[in-house]
Amino acid sequence: MSGSLRDVPPTDLLPMGAAAELKALSREIAEHDERYYQQDAPSISDAVYDALRARNDAIESLFPDMVRSDSPSKKVGAAPAAGFRKVRHSKPMLSLGNAFIAADVADFLAGVRRFLKLADDEPIEIVAEPKIDGLSVSLTYNKGRFVRGATRGDGTEGEDITANIRTLADLPRVIEGNVPDVLEVRGEVYMGKAAFAELNARQEATGAKIFANPRNAAAGSLRQLNPAVTARRTLGLFAYAMGEVSGNVAETHWDFLACLRRWGFATNPLGKLCKNLDQVLGLYEDTEAHRARLDYDIDGIVYKVNRLDWQARLGMVSRSPRWAIAHKFPAEKAKTIVESIEIQVGRTGVLTPVAHLEPVTVGGVVVSRATLHNEDYVAEKDIRTGDAVVIYRAGDVIPRVDEVIDDGHHDERPRFVFPGVCPECGSQAIREDGMAATHCVGGLVCPAQAVERLKHFVSRGAFDIEGLGGKHIEAFWDDGLISTLGDVFRLAERATDVVDREGWGRTSFDNLVAALTERRTLPLDRFIYALGIPQVGQATARTLAKQYGSLEAWSIAMNDARIIGSEAREELGNINGIGESVIADLLAFFAEPHNREVIKDLRGLVSVEDFSAPATENSPMAGKTVVFTGTLEALSRNEAKARAESLGAKVSGSVSKKTDYVVAGPGAGSKLKKAQGLGVTVLTEEDWLVLISG
Ligand code: IVH
Repeated sequence: MSGSLRDVPPTDLLPMGAAAELKALSREIAEHDERYYQQDAPSISDAVYDALRARNDAIESLFPDMVRSDSPSKKVGAAPAAGFRKVRHSKPMLSLGNAFIAADVADFLAGVRRFLKLADDEPIEIVAEPKIDGLSVSLTYNKGRFVRGATRGDGTEGEDITANIRTLADLPRVIEGNVPDVLEVRGEVYMGKAAFAELNARQEATGAKIFANPRNAAAGSLRQLNPAVTARRTLGLFAYAMGEVSGNVAETHWDFLACLRRWGFATNPLGKLCKNLDQVLGLYEDTEAHRARLDYDIDGIVYKVNRLDWQARLGMVSRSPRWAIAHKFPAEKAKTIVESIEIQVGRTGVLTPVAHLEPVTVGGVVVSRATLHNEDYVAEKDIRTGDAVVIYRAGDVIPRVDEVIDDGHHDERPRFVFPGVCPECGSQAIREDGMAATHCVGGLVCPAQAVERLKHFVSRGAFDIEGLGGKHIEAFWDDGLISTLGDVFRLAERATDVVDREGWGRTSFDNLVAALTERRTLPLDRFIYALGIPQVGQATARTLAKQYGSLEAWSIAMNDARIIGSEAREELGNINGIGESVIADLLAFFAEPHNREVIKDLRGLVSVEDFSAPATENSPMAGKTVVFTGTLEALSRNEAKARAESLGAKVSGSVSKKTDYVVAGPGAGSKLKKAQGLGVTVLTEEDWLVLISG
């Protein structure tokens, strides 16, 4: 009977038939998984297997209430069915700063030289290696045995994908010889171009999702709840960096790459040890010239300072290391037509003109929209509806319009007029003096801002509520289920409203409640970021969390700082990395009573953890406020700052009674005087170095 049922298209199935099919598919797929995954002896082709899974998915999406607890779509090796377990990285997984032209690379080298106070003739060796366009992973070995694979996630916390990673042919499962007890290797998982084409052909044949590019395909394959699916997708792995490692394995990155190869990892064969800028740029050009002939996508060259002791001294700034940079290949371009220019209102109320384009392929991706940034950009390039334009994509960023091509009719088309009101809510759209952006003043009455704020609130770097995506937020908002940030948590009390909705049901609602419960506690920096205050991104949120420590202290300080000349205002002004324009947005946020209500409401719903400084309890600098003044001799000012911060200190630009130490070099003036007046401990640079080394 199941033979004939198998021929019925999912959309024609009746509930009884659907239930029977789901049961049969679950059993059959499990059998094939067992054969393929455990016994290495598949009895069907990949295409037939994929078709079974696609059918299962299709029936489940038509009959969401019938999803079985043993459904193949839910099954995972060791992880719970709701998704992957979260893992905290022992060392953050960083991103890289970008260089676009040779001068940026020269600046990078000069910056390294300055930071380390190297003489002009001291050579800086650089390892240059291709930047693989895939997904970074962390691979942990315990006494030479592979024990855990994780995604990068937000850099601090990723997902446990051990079972999936184990299926990669390039992964050494056991490392022999001289291996440190704890070894964490980082690298990039990618899908080759040939494997990508084959996969998409298979997906197309079975009516399954087509991937836009190899990187998305690799991501989709790696994040499969069922490792058997990952195993069927051909993924490669290049190892390129060290995570947490017990003991010393190498003095230089180049030697570390050799270690990796000895341990059985694939490292990229195009990497090179360069002695100077010319060699570095030479490698960049050679690689770019035959980039298209490689079987995998690369989007630039990564340069890394070779000496690991230098890397340690250079440390990081924001989320990127000072010892490495990615030199991007120039963007790929294409010609197309502007079909219309529309205004999009972002979550912070900024009006962005967007060009809707005749679809065109650029760098392997079909593009139909491009950002036009702001009023001036459209005016400067004089982009008009109907114009022929050149667009380009640089890496993952949104495509941009580069220039208008003269087709002889440009002048006949009407010039684009930037609106004076918000197209979403009709409130005034204002452009402040000297600012590029135009803002809608509608705040939470503006649907674009309210919905976008809610979406931001549940997004990955913020509350990260699993299973609650942008589409759900829009639908809940449209139906009046949520209008403020706190309503998101109150969804847990609205079982009847949610369960009966199309595409929901009891199970999905229970999952949502579980996801909300899991997020009722979160760190202060994520909370601040989640509020969606203009200009307060993840790095700024972290800086604020670090400065103020608790939600209580931060809220009080922000309220007090609204008074010009107050101590709170001065403290805010003295935080490194927070400029006047960010301060203006922060204070404007707190000036709005509605926003203060939102925070108060949230405090009743979630618990916000105080900021926990990195493990520096034993350091004499932990929790201290330090001011550097005068000329430093042993360290550059930046290195001194970075070192103090890494030991848990706050570095401030001005002296107050809260200052614990003033480190004064030759030439120190008013700050030194003020310190002496207030009785603050004054140290020479040498004293300070002794203090921190002891
Ligand atoms: S080194 C921060 N080397 O690029 C230092 N990264 O934009 C650790 N990537 O998240 C990364 N190829 O996913 C390094 N040869 C390479 C790389 C590489 C690709 C990725 C990696 C990282 C991203 C940063």
